[in-house]
Amino acid sequence: MSPIPLLTLRGITKSFPGVLANNHVDLDIYGGEVHALLGENGAGKSTLMKILYGFYRPDSGEVRLNDQPIHIQSPHDARQFRIGMVFQDFIQVPALTVAENITLFLPTLPFVLDHVSIIKRIEEVSGRYGLKVNPHAYVWQLSVGERQKVEVLKLLLADARVLIFDEPTRSLAPHEIEGLFQVFANLKRDGYALVFITHKMKEVLACADRITVLRHGKVAGTLKGSEANERSLIALMFGRQIEESPGRPSEKQSDGRKPLLELKGITTQTEGMAWGLKDIHLTIKPGEIVGVAGVSGNGQKELGDVVLGLEKCAAGVKYLHGEEATAWSVARIRASGVAFIPEDPLGMAAFPWLSVQENMAMANPRMYSKQGGLSMDWQAVRSDLQASLERLGFNIPPYYVPLGILSGGNIQRMILAREMAHHPKLIIAFYPTRGLDVQSANSARKVLTSSRDQGAGILLISEDLGELFSLSDRLVVMFQGRIVGTSTPQQVSINEVGYLMTGSKGETKQSE
Ligand SMILES: Nc1ncnc2c1ncn2[C@@H]1O[C@H](COP(=O)(O)OP(=O)(O)O)[C@@H](O)[C@H]1O
Ligand SMILES: [Mg+2]
Repeated sequence: MSPIPLLTLRGITKSFPGVLANNHVDLDIYGGEVHALLGENGAGKSTLMKILYGFYRPDSGEVRLNDQPIHIQSPHDARQFRIGMVFQDFIQVPALTVAENITLFLPTLPFVLDHVSIIKRIEEVSGRYGLKVNPHAYVWQLSVGERQKVEVLKLLLADARVLIFDEPTRSLAPHEIEGLFQVFANLKRDGYALVFITHKMKEVLACADRITVLRHGKVAGTLKGSEANERSLIALMFGRQIEESPGRPSEKQSDGRKPLLELKGITTQTEGMAWGLKDIHLTIKPGEIVGVAGVSGNGQKELGDVVLGLEKCAAGVKYLHGEEATAWSVARIRASGVAFIPEDPLGMAAFPWLSVQENMAMANPRMYSKQGGLSMDWQAVRSDLQASLERLGFNIPPYYVPLGILSGGNIQRMILAREMAHHPKLIIAFYPTRGLDVQSANSARKVLTSSRDQGAGILLISEDLGELFSLSDRLVVMFQGRIVGTSTPQQVSINEVGYLMTGSKGETKQSE
């Protein structure tokens, strides 16, 4: 890390109608460091970096490069200042090869590089930084992880020095995430400045030299990676205030009703995982939202998978709607009225190359097949989807576009509409508002609470403690595959939950 910052941001303020996205933000970015920008959804991370990339202009504030004030009016300017950004939803041309996609992005050069030398450059750079990808492959043939490498190669070949990654791990598999952190390390070694936007604490602790936490548009603090731990980051991300929870009219409703879901002593053995679920006892009754708090990777995914039948139980019994369902298939569980909003909609619950309406049909093949499965009732698919979208208040992308080309927010909206279309009895919702704008997030929350008020049971998994506190009737906290606390949101503070999330029992006990 060099002693003088490469980039200095001072007093950056940016508002959108009704939202102060960035509020007097100061930030220093050095060459040779991975600087993590951490914060909940909506904290203002993307906005701040889009200002640096010339996508937005700040209302006020200053950016300096090597201590000289600069004015970044457009992404074109940013690239001239050698600032590059890998977006959450990057755009590539699927019908062109890797090399062609990269060439398209390169600035007009004084001399024309021929195809052969571009391929040679790609191979050199990809070898040096661990960005292995076949330059002759067509982009449509690549996985998300490989396409991300193409994005990084584009920036490197265009001579960027500052590389901004907006939630780059969002749709990567665990081994790809490790690979990305290795790429970070390689780039850092050569003096590149890396900004890593994420809301996942574990990832930040795994790779960041410095961490700036944004909360409600402001810098809550900057820590050295070596000095940070989950607990200090939680305190910065969520603050120490106790959130007011709105009253819940449904509170009494759940009493005396037969549970929709009962897990009794569920234990799993996940291959390659340090821990599976350990002795989980959990009940969800009609008309209640049970929120699961936890740092991601502490068994939340396995919990959802067990309920949905994707993960086998090594011990314990599962009941659905009062029936023993431990060995039920996923299809049977879904047909019994269980909906699933997954953590990674594109990777887990959708077929990117199929259209929006085909995705709807694929999730409910029995419901929509005609003539013994030989054809689909597209009319019914469309009208159910339409009705669900209207209830949710979402705008609709055309039915015929492949899901994979939609933005993250639109994919999330489609999955929500698909899963809510048939009035499910039990809903397993992973981060249901992630990637949504404020309005869509509010409608999604409203749909969950009104389903609850109409008697559905909901297992809500979220890292957004504010959301968990405001929606849940009961909260459980998961740590290392166990439920380490159960309470109502009225009886605990966000802070106490934060301590439990990091495996610590209370204020007095030190972690690590
Ligand atoms: N183009 C926009 N128009 C209106 N509001 C926006 C726009 N972009 C972001 N916002 C709002 O600004 C706030 C910060 O958003 P963002 O920077 O995307 O947060 P993060 O990346 O930390 O999740 C949010 O409330 C978001 O809804
Ligand atoms: Mg963002």
